Amino acid sequence: MTASVTNPADRFNLPIPFGWFAVGRGEDVKVGDVVPFQLCNEEFVLWRGEDGAVRGLDAICPHLGAHLGHNSTVIGNEIRCPFHHWQFKGDGAVASIPYQDVLPPKLTKPCRERSLPIHEDLGVIFAWWHPQRAAPLFALNPVPEITEEGWVPVFFKEWVFDVHIQEITENSADVAHFPALHGIKAPPVPEMKIDGYFRYTSATSKLPTARGEIDGKIDVRAIGPGLSFTRFWGITDLLLLQMQTPLDGARTHMRHVYFHPAEVAEDKVNVTQKLMSNTWKQLEQDALVWPFKRHLEKPLLVKNDGPILAYREFYSRFYA
Ligand code: FES
Ligand SMILES: [Fe+2]
Repeated sequence: MTASVTNPADRFNLPIPFGWFAVGRGEDVKVGDVVPFQLCNEEFVLWRGEDGAVRGLDAICPHLGAHLGHNSTVIGNEIRCPFHHWQFKGDGAVASIPYQDVLPPKLTKPCRERSLPIHEDLGVIFAWWHPQRAAPLFALNPVPEITEEGWVPVFFKEWVFDVHIQEITENSADVAHFPALHGIKAPPVPEMKIDGYFRYTSATSKLPTARGEIDGKIDVRAIGPGLSFTRFWGITDLLLLQMQTPLDGARTHMRHVYFHPAEVAEDKVNVTQKLMSNTWKQLEQDALVWPFKRHLEKPLLVKNDGPILAYREFYSRFYA
């Protein structure tokens, strides 16, 4: 590889993986709201119907190309295009055309190419994206802390990074960058377990506290390429839902939501705060490298670099 100047979008030269990706926060989309958004280099629109459910479609109206994300109206559970008032269901079928009594049957069938499967949970709206519009291949199962133990979301933060999505999570397998870039002396050596579309890693690590570093454990459960739950043990009870969403092949929208038990002991409030701000600090250190780096298909690795190639081998299953 030569270091010739390259178009930003060509720095990675990787496809976009399929999976569930966060596309917004539930509280930002009220009944009747229409929101345009970009996902995986395509334009989509979502809306919340009067039944409370969010639906998603390709943004461009198949009639004559108006953008459904601008000036359209939610009618019941359907979306009405501003240009000629065709009305669409969330499954992509045409529900009505104001100047046409009898609709051609092919228009009233669900249209998988145009509709975007949506799943709303944990206060987040997720969309299933697949380049060939295959139906969801795996489910989004949250963790028992939230479903059974009543943990609550406490903090939300988001960024857009100039990097391909695969590079972000490759970080966890890239053991040698922790001391160099993040100043963590004994980097966590993760044990990785793969189960279909899920990846589990477990690592013991030094966690920073106001009274110095203590031994902690970090378990990560990644659900496809788009999200993971990170459970911090040993210091306080904290769960990070990290979501990374490809805007295109070189930009990724990252969102963090933290959960902790409904009641947090007073002596743990500071520790929890410190742990959260430490994860942001690490991201911002990674972001010194990401906007300029390139994806090397054949990196020059040595033995102690960590399970980078195993990670890539796992990740390749998300490329259709
Ligand atoms: S362009 Fe949408 S109804 Fe005509
Ligand atoms: Fe990092």
